[in-house]
Amino acid sequence: MRELTEVKMSTPVPEMEPQRQFYYMEVAKEYVRQLEEKKGRKLTFHVSTFGCQMNARDSEKLTGILETIGYVETDTEEADFVIYNTCTVRENANNKVYGRLGYLNGFKKKDHDMMIALCGCMMQEEKVVEKIRSSYRFVDLIFGTHNIYKFAELLVQALEADRMVVDVWKDTDKIVEDLPVERKYSFKSGVNIMFGCNNFCSYCIVPYVRGRERSREPKDIIREIEHLVEDGVVEVMLLGQNVNSYGKNLEHPVTFAQLLQEVEKIEGLERIRFMTSHPKDLSDDLIEVMKHSKKICKHLHLPLQSGSSRLLKIMNRHYTKEQYLELVEKIRAAVPDIALTTDIIVGFPGETDEDFMETMDVVEKVGYDSAFTFIYSKRTGTPAAEMEDQVPEEVVKARFDRLLARVQTIAAQKAGALTGKTMEVLVEHINEQDSHLVTGRLSNNSTVHLPGTEDMIGKLIPVYLKECKGFYYLGEAVE
Ligand code: SAH
Ligand code: SF4
Ligand code: F3S
Repeated sequence: MRELTEVKMSTPVPEMEPQRQFYYMEVAKEYVRQLEEKKGRKLTFHVSTFGCQMNARDSEKLTGILETIGYVETDTEEADFVIYNTCTVRENANNKVYGRLGYLNGFKKKDHDMMIALCGCMMQEEKVVEKIRSSYRFVDLIFGTHNIYKFAELLVQALEADRMVVDVWKDTDKIVEDLPVERKYSFKSGVNIMFGCNNFCSYCIVPYVRGRERSREPKDIIREIEHLVEDGVVEVMLLGQNVNSYGKNLEHPVTFAQLLQEVEKIEGLERIRFMTSHPKDLSDDLIEVMKHSKKICKHLHLPLQSGSSRLLKIMNRHYTKEQYLELVEKIRAAVPDIALTTDIIVGFPGETDEDFMETMDVVEKVGYDSAFTFIYSKRTGTPAAEMEDQVPEEVVKARFDRLLARVQTIAAQKAGALTGKTMEVLVEHINEQDSHLVTGRLSNNSTVHLPGTEDMIGKLIPVYLKECKGFYYLGEAVE
């Protein structure tokens, strides 16, 4: 087992955050140094991320802390420290984690110093933690979504203890600013503008595992983006479960539309994206801001969930099919070339053929540029899990296939609308198949491949869109 000499610091543990975490990072550094000495090499870490962009951003925070204390990132899970940042929005996300834990245990048997940590949404469920305590006892550390800022402190506890450390909070009203973050991309970044969710859509577990809605102060958001821009970022994605209700609970309330106008003013920032927009709270002010903005991308992700007003009511979504369609019309009138994408659930309890046809009808009428389609997954603890009339699997599967086929056909027809035009592309990486090409994105989020070199990465360049191949464009940089 890890034989470590207890680290004693000359100063007391600070009470205040983030100072307290920086203190623990110093302690952790010392333990990492001891382990390096024992092993005669640097220690490695691997962060595996499941789920949404919130989790991706949280993983960048975990990475920032691990790098600060001296671990080096590796792309294999045969590492000295492995952490799974989990998702529980659908059952299959959970099963993946259990499957992979078994495989991790194989590495741990070979090296008892290895550390395995679990965090994220799945850990907010008591049943999950119980199961891990009883069947996956080799796990060293479990924490949840509310105390992720405490990672350095928990890591020290886990290094010092010879048993599983578990710290999961039910909720929090705390937002800790200014901890280290290590970005995956140098030129673009997610930025949390709010945490949690208050909407309680009846199928959804997120409000139970992410807690109540909390908005960050506009000045903290602006300062973070300014720093990102100084550091080379040109595109930000503002993140929240329902960005349209941003700022309502601040001491001095600010709307999302107002926040966007402030972000727009940041010099050097070129592109602004945001996710996710709940249709019930999308304001006319926001549409107006989008219409006049030079930086907000021409893409809106507007989850539909269902086209049936009857089901939307039971889902607790607070809009009808007609209201959704009107909203789409308003947005298209203001921003004609906007790309629209969505999320749809098939097989919600009690979904009839008629309900499903209403969904198909919206898909037809809106003509989405792309859509994420999900089979309804029963989440224990949500109201929908208690509903009768769970739809038989074969029926759901048949509807799902039918919807997916239609969504794909429509998306294929939509793609290519910009062929022959010259548009700005943010180059993101070297093409994976052909190293003579680079790959980037248009404002509307479409992918473009073009001949190019590494030095173009992170730059916005005008590109002539020569042809559309299925779901991407082939283009050429224009001088
Ligand atoms: N806050 C976002 C959604 C976050 S979850 C919003 O309201 O739009 C991402 C997507 O997962 C949801 O839009 C929904 O389509 C899907 N989803 C959530 N719970 C689900 C469940 N129990 N079964 C299947 N899909 C679900
Ligand atoms: Fe879930 Fe609804 Fe909240 Fe989105 S808005 S996270 S679907 S409860
Ligand atoms: Fe999953 Fe949690 Fe996101 S449940 S979808 S990772 S908020």
